Amino acid sequence: MNIMVVGGGGREHAIIRKLKENKDVETIYALPGNGGIAKDAQCVGISATDIEGITAFAKEHAIDYAVVAPDDPLVLGCVDALNAIGIPCFGPEAKAAIIEGSKVFSKNLMKKYQIPTAAYETFSDMDAALAYLEDAPMPTVIKADGLALGKGVIIAGTREEAREAVKEMMADKKFGKSGENIVIEEFLTGPEVSVLSFTDGKTVVPMISSMDHKRAGDNDTGLNTGGMGTIAPNPYYTPEVAERCMKEIFLPTIHAMNEEGRTFKGCLYFGLMITPDGPKVIEYNCRFGDPETQVVLPLLESDLLTIMQATTNGTLAQTQVRFSDRHACCVIMASEGYPVSYEKGYEITIPEETWDRVYVAGARLEGGRLLTSGGRVLGVTAVEDSLEEAIRSSYEAVRTISFGNAYYRTDIGNKALECVRR
Ligand code: AMP
Ligand code: GLY
Repeated sequence: MNIMVVGGGGREHAIIRKLKENKDVETIYALPGNGGIAKDAQCVGISATDIEGITAFAKEHAIDYAVVAPDDPLVLGCVDALNAIGIPCFGPEAKAAIIEGSKVFSKNLMKKYQIPTAAYETFSDMDAALAYLEDAPMPTVIKADGLALGKGVIIAGTREEAREAVKEMMADKKFGKSGENIVIEEFLTGPEVSVLSFTDGKTVVPMISSMDHKRAGDNDTGLNTGGMGTIAPNPYYTPEVAERCMKEIFLPTIHAMNEEGRTFKGCLYFGLMITPDGPKVIEYNCRFGDPETQVVLPLLESDLLTIMQATTNGTLAQTQVRFSDRHACCVIMASEGYPVSYEKGYEITIPEETWDRVYVAGARLEGGRLLTSGGRVLGVTAVEDSLEEAIRSSYEAVRTISFGNAYYRTDIGNKALECVRR
């Protein structure tokens, strides 16, 4: 089989490694992939948002199955375009990807179908938003409606900060069209859990739970990033919480999307907060999380391609999805200065024996050398019998890798360890 994976980060690298385990897979193309992915797939210089280029490539290369991994091509209708030329895909159509593409849509969906989430108001008029803030309890959370590279969420501690955030989004258009509409919502507290799930629109199969570490600095300080490390499973996600999530959140969401004529197929990501009032949805993503995928897929024992095809064919209920009972930790190595500004172009050295634990996010090949080319450069995942060992083993591997201006958090997994030890 010829497989095409759209995207070029650490998440796509982890997906490609797993797909390669299937014996029927002959060639995997990555569009565009990156210098590290090039070790595992044929990288093609077509951008993940070039829908025309992607469909033309798929037609020319007899692609049997396509995996569309990032949010932007999904929201732009990449799956619709590939389906239109007869290529089966993993991922939702645009009308279902809106669950991530518009926060106004997802908040209204949750309200209509009584899915637990933070209380909120939506605004398309700045003066109305500013007036609302006058009496709103602080802290409050301001979210741009559309995709904003994970940066469109501001937690405002004071009224002044909240006003500033609203003005930045609505008047200064910091996030372009994404900020034309905004959501202002209640600030929730509690541990966060990411649950990725497979769904064919009828059955929903949660994957093993995980915990992201979004802030740039140790002890959750500094700016929000795309994610600086993950662990799985997440100890806060107890069997009782999982049962409530299935009943109150996962099944109702699949049902709600069907009712709206927006059947979701692919990976639906539930960003949850376990609040004192029970689990609530912080956000939906229409795709695998990054870097959650880098700890979840290494623990998957069943065949990924078979499961993906089952989400497309509607046969997920008859398909085995089994996870290992071991533990995984992924530490992201970034360029110092990320997520603001950073230098790139430094050579990366990775010992041969560490390679199979490395998922490359931001690197390019030049004359056979691997050079840094992004903020998040790579992730190192270790799988061990306990969380403690997974953390230690992943940091051990991190210390064998070097590149100029390398930066990583030193406390990935500590919060989860506290929970385990309680
Ligand atoms: P998001 O991009 O929606 O995942 O938001 C980024 C981060 O902001 C989340 O991981 C949470 O830590 C935080 N966050 C988002 N919404 C809320 C909320 N209503 N209350 C508290 N924290 C939030
Ligand atoms: N790690 C969070 C995300 O993929 O959006």
